[in-house]
Amino acid sequence: MVNVFLNFKAYKESAVPNSEKLVSAALGFKNVFICPQQQELLFLRKKFPKAKIFAQDCESNEFGAFTGSIGLTQLKSIGVNGSLLNHSERKKPFNELKKIILEANKIGFKLVVCVDSLSEAKKIIELRPWAIAFEPPELIGSGKSVSTHEPVLVKKFINLVGGKSIPLIGAGVSNHSDFVESIALGAEGVLLASAFVKSKNPKKWLKEFV
Ligand code: G3P
Repeated sequence: MVNVFLNFKAYKESAVPNSEKLVSAALGFKNVFICPQQQELLFLRKKFPKAKIFAQDCESNEFGAFTGSIGLTQLKSIGVNGSLLNHSERKKPFNELKKIILEANKIGFKLVVCVDSLSEAKKIIELRPWAIAFEPPELIGSGKSVSTHEPVLVKKFINLVGGKSIPLIGAGVSNHSDFVESIALGAEGVLLASAFVKSKNPKKWLKEFV
């Protein structure tokens, strides 16, 4: 199964009302997951009951006195299907990641844990998150695909994961050939943002992409 995760980040092009157009574009694709802006999660969940929706970040807490936090229990309770974690633009200390991943595994909440290096991947993989995404930070938003520019690192990453989690790759992935190349290297999916969010016709773009 090949997965496509579309990270909306905090772009103006992916904020309400544009977000609805982006989510609609992803409907009907079996393996496409969307990661909208946090403040729109409940609204989009209600409006698009069939969409596969992931948060962009989460905390380990349950319900309680945790001002300002968005815990995985809270996300699960509103029907969010999972969450990204530890994105380069949203790094967390290892101890915090460990708490979140263990809690997510306990309650059956899917996490895509991002890593920016092989050494980070090595530590995270021991915790067995549902999926792990390798994204070299210098290629993020560059339009230069990780599959073309870091194939050796990608292969090492895939070997390191060794079937213990779903291996995804991301950064600069922008078109169908980047996607095909990523899968050929052994990734079981990609994580991408700008090429989709900023496309003129997201539905057409996605069709061509997959
Ligand atoms: O989470 C995906 C991301 O960091 C890659 O961004 O814009 O290079 O696809 P982009």
